[in-house]
Amino acid sequence: MPARRVSALGGPGVPLAQHVRRRRRRWPSVPVAAALVAVFVLGSSASVTAAVTRLAPEEPPPAVAAPAETTPPAPLSALIAPATAAAATPPPLAPVPATDLPVVEQQQVAGQDVCTDPAVTAALAAQDEAAAIAAVGGAQLFREAVVAGTAPCLRLDDPNLSWVVVNKIRPFAPIDWAPGSVVFPDGVRNIGEGALAPEAAAALTAMVSAAAAAGAGEIGLQSAYRSYTTQQTSYGVQVADRGVEGADLVSARPGHSEHQSGLAADVVPCANGSCGTLDDLAATSQGAWVADNAWQFGWIVRYQEGRTDVTGYAPEPWHLRYVGPEIATAMREGGYTTLEEFFGLPAAPAYAPAG
Ligand code: DAL
Ligand code: ZN
Repeated sequence: MPARRVSALGGPGVPLAQHVRRRRRRWPSVPVAAALVAVFVLGSSASVTAAVTRLAPEEPPPAVAAPAETTPPAPLSALIAPATAAAATPPPLAPVPATDLPVVEQQQVAGQDVCTDPAVTAALAAQDEAAAIAAVGGAQLFREAVVAGTAPCLRLDDPNLSWVVVNKIRPFAPIDWAPGSVVFPDGVRNIGEGALAPEAAAALTAMVSAAAAAGAGEIGLQSAYRSYTTQQTSYGVQVADRGVEGADLVSARPGHSEHQSGLAADVVPCANGSCGTLDDLAATSQGAWVADNAWQFGWIVRYQEGRTDVTGYAPEPWHLRYVGPEIATAMREGGYTTLEEFFGLPAAPAYAPAG
């Protein structure tokens, strides 16, 4: 069954098709979109929804098998120059005609102005991130161009693109931006009526299916797209509960949450027809599998242990962010644990002072 489109959020009077982003499907086995369902999606903050879905004491626990053996990432960082080094010291060009260079090196030469490359501009116009990254010469060169500031067309502030970076100092513009459409991921237990941008939904379906096939257990979706107003409510609840300082560690202020993009998914472990909480995930086989394998499906664990100084949030092993397989793979191979560091952006531990 195809994923159900939940809403077209661009406003009345505009044909729905105009709101559907044209993206190259990367998971061809998982068809997306079809029947229209007019459902207004509500989400909530992690702990609020966790409390709501916490299992009753008499219910059996979710899958809490011992974490699967994990395989540390291959030490490819030894093969790839660190971002800062690449940015600070561009590699000298070999004194040979660019036409004599292998394709990738030609791209490095052209990479000084990738934004004039018709293949790049066409891919960006089509909102085809995979094609844009390929046209630049791969995710590593994409990253280097962004870090070096030589490719202003590779914008990290466009929430229509899966490489968008949203954090405490990078709000949506406009602040209440909403995706054109979101859909329920097909084949995923959805305990919070979470919907996602179509490509993220397809990628979640593929990931959840692979986890089950690998014997890691069932992964459910608790929260996904949250509108500006929903996040207002969620954040407000946290402030009432923890105060502003405490809330800011666990919940984004409205206009600053990745959930508003439709590209973030909070996942939980499920077993025997019921699901555990967000907090349960890390200690389960599902959590171990996600930490090790989500990148293969274009997802990253966005708020990792020990990175609060960069992300501004306490660790959230359950908060997955869809960035696409190219970026996720490059981050994995390069040993990057935050989008900020991957793209050479400033750390965002706190909000900019008002004023
Ligand atoms: N819990 C994450 C930070 C959010 O509210 O978006
Ligand atoms: Zn989240």
